[in-house]
Amino acid sequence: MSPFPFFFFFIIIIIFFLPSSYSTHYPYNYALHIDCGSLSNSTDIFNTTWLSDRYFTNGAISVVSEPLHFQHPQEKTLRYFPISSGKKNCYVIPNLPLGRYQLRTFTVYDNYDGKSHTPSFDVSVEGNIVFQWRSPWHETISRAGAYSDLFFTVNDDVADICFYSIATDSPVIASLEITQIDPYSYLVNDTSILVNYGRFSSGSGQWGPGFTNDTDRFARSWQSDIDFRVSGRINGGKIKSITAIRNVVNVDEAPNYFPLKLYQSAVTVIGEGGEYLEYNLPVDAKLDYLLWFHFAEIDASVNKAGKRVFDVLVNGENVSRVDIYKEVGSFAAYDFKYVVKNLTSTELSVRLEPIVGAPVICGLENYAIIPSDLKTLPQQVVAMKALKESLRVPDRMGWNGDPCAPTTWDAWEGVTCRTTKNGSLVISQIDLGSQGLKGYISDQIGLLSNLVSLNLSSNSLGGSLPWGLGQKSLVKLDLSNNKFTGSLSDSLASSTLRIVFLNGNELEGQVPEELLSIGVHGGAIDLSGNKGLCGGPTLPDCPLFWSKNGLSTTGKVAIGISCLVFICVVLLVAYICYKRRQNDYDFGLPHEMMSLAAKRNRYQRQKSLMTLEMESQHAKGFIPTYNAT
Ligand SMILES: *[C@@H]1O[C@H](CO)[C@@H](O)[C@H](O)[C@H]1NC(C)=O
Ligand SMILES: *[C@@H]1O[C@H](CO)[C@@H](O)[C@H](O)[C@H]1NC(C)=O
Ligand SMILES: *[C@@H]1O[C@H](CO)[C@@H](O)[C@H](O)[C@H]1NC(C)=O
Ligand SMILES: *[C@@H]1O[C@H](CO)[C@@H](O)[C@H](O)[C@H]1NC(C)=O
Ligand SMILES: *[C@@H]1O[C@H](CO)[C@@H](O)[C@H](O)[C@H]1NC(C)=O
Ligand SMILES: *[C@@H]1O[C@H](CO)[C@@H](O)[C@H](O)[C@H]1NC(C)=O
Ligand SMILES: *[C@@H]1O[C@H](CO)[C@@H](O)[C@H](O)[C@H]1NC(C)=O
Ligand SMILES: *[C@@H]1O[C@H](CO)[C@@H](O)[C@H](O)[C@H]1NC(C)=O
Repeated sequence: MSPFPFFFFFIIIIIFFLPSSYSTHYPYNYALHIDCGSLSNSTDIFNTTWLSDRYFTNGAISVVSEPLHFQHPQEKTLRYFPISSGKKNCYVIPNLPLGRYQLRTFTVYDNYDGKSHTPSFDVSVEGNIVFQWRSPWHETISRAGAYSDLFFTVNDDVADICFYSIATDSPVIASLEITQIDPYSYLVNDTSILVNYGRFSSGSGQWGPGFTNDTDRFARSWQSDIDFRVSGRINGGKIKSITAIRNVVNVDEAPNYFPLKLYQSAVTVIGEGGEYLEYNLPVDAKLDYLLWFHFAEIDASVNKAGKRVFDVLVNGENVSRVDIYKEVGSFAAYDFKYVVKNLTSTELSVRLEPIVGAPVICGLENYAIIPSDLKTLPQQVVAMKALKESLRVPDRMGWNGDPCAPTTWDAWEGVTCRTTKNGSLVISQIDLGSQGLKGYISDQIGLLSNLVSLNLSSNSLGGSLPWGLGQKSLVKLDLSNNKFTGSLSDSLASSTLRIVFLNGNELEGQVPEELLSIGVHGGAIDLSGNKGLCGGPTLPDCPLFWSKNGLSTTGKVAIGISCLVFICVVLLVAYICYKRRQNDYDFGLPHEMMSLAAKRNRYQRQKSLMTLEMESQHAKGFIPTYNAT
């Protein structure tokens, strides 16, 4: 990718506003304009509301060194990300409706930091690298700044725009604008990001939202074609601008909503005949490009097919023959796209070669097609964000945006990712030993189903070990020298762990057998230096009936049995009483036998009561004191 994707200088030419009435219903209205580095919201001369960026990101704010050289307030303040705020910093735009968007950025240096060193950094959108700024910047861009724009798709309801510091440079940004566009606009084959490498309107000055009062539904700005036209090679001819004398039709239509103004001016070439028109566009040979051509027959003298015919050549290759009148008649827009592949140079040449009459063109767009990078599985992103929160990971570690993407950059500091067979990214390792962390481990860690190794040793983490920990993939667990409390979670016991270091914590309770078997099977386990772990070979025996959750299973069974015995005894007593009464009144036993039975029953009854009393005293923890009368 070229260091400066595409830029245009903002020499604003005030163009008289042509009122154009949009009749089409246009349902995509979301737009956000962020004035980076500004402390307050504001409204500009185009009635655009600019929001302060303080709620979207971290980093530091500054002002360009010569604010009077800048036309718009949002160009004067900027945000930069010193290395102390981490290598990766993001703007996180929440609650975005799903769909397709244009992002426009304004980047400027203007020696704001007095170091006379333009920074090197990368910018990513939704985990794909889109801009690569490399020091030294072109003098004009460094001083006056540059706009860049691109089209991208949002699949979740959040957009991440991230800045990656190269060496110790501080990425810098002055404004960010997000405008929703038609979901089917500029579709190539998939939803790749399209980065603008040149978008011009022939025969006019620069125009579009933010630059003039002219509207464009997608907030596209259109440069003058003078910046791209190849001069001195027009075969002796002279460039002529023409403007439409009446309205052009077939404009402002879904899905691309090309504006009327684009087709109201054009350039052609006049001369002896046979003169061609040529444009050169900057490109990066590594990428494929999407060219979008715009034509309209706005010369009233061309009034039938075959009067103006020309071929379109891209890098010398004939890609299409054009007869605008034959295709759409006059005063009607005619556009088509062409994908250029296998480039060999950093310049793309577009030439209009005449066949009949002189060639004409209204505008041209050129976009680099950035293939989608891999993405971290969504539920693992959720888990990592929860961990960032619960572990209170410091800013300097740059835990922002997608944990693993873009793949050309390292994952979040201390995090290792891998690519699964089906092409998604997953977290395989977390190493945050001795980072001064003070939080706890979120239960969401269970969502990291590919986690192999977790090392959080020598921090000040507390709380209990979460249930989620002990996923099937986990092999290595080092939580030593923290302040973890409570008992060992059962989930740990069912895992395939080979290395477990939990020494130097405040854990208590019985160690599950399965965990102890790690040592037996050649793994390593260290449970020393805890508050009250018991049951292991080097640990004290657990008190009878005591295990990790207080009472052991055996303890519970014992209590259960005691209760059962108690209930049986009570029932027995009740039964005997009942029986005795029955004996007393219902059955006519011989007198002697009856008195014998009564005696025996009385004796039985006393004994039962005694036992009962003993039991209840025991339960209260008293030593029974009674006199055997
Ligand atoms: C700017 O506007 C946004 C949205 O309207 C609002 O949430 C925020 O509080 C405002 N900020 C300031 C500094 O006024
Ligand atoms: C500016 O916007 C406000 C509301 O967003 C509207 O009421 C006002 O008419 C607009 N002004 C112009 C000049 O368009
Ligand atoms: C789009 O698909 C066609 C064939 O289906 C292929 O030739 C072309 O290269 C694809 N374009 C891109 C940009 O992937
Ligand atoms: C844009 O239009 C508004 C009113 O319609 C006008 O006040 C303003 O000066 C215009 N801005 C420019 C830059 O032409
Ligand atoms: C250029 O290609 C078009 C078809 O794409 C063809 O009709 C035309 O004849 C070609 N021009 C030349 C000079 O071969
Ligand atoms: C581009 O190059 C690749 C291999 O380098 C080749 O397979 C493909 O056919 C080429 N495509 C075009 C349009 O030349
Ligand atoms: C890829 O595989 C993982 C499991 O390894 C699964 O959770 C995920 O949904 C799969 N992704 C796709 C796009 O199939
Ligand atoms: C965990 O990380 C520390 C460094 O922070 C290292 O000394 C220790 O060996 C690691 N533990 C394991 C099990 O690799």
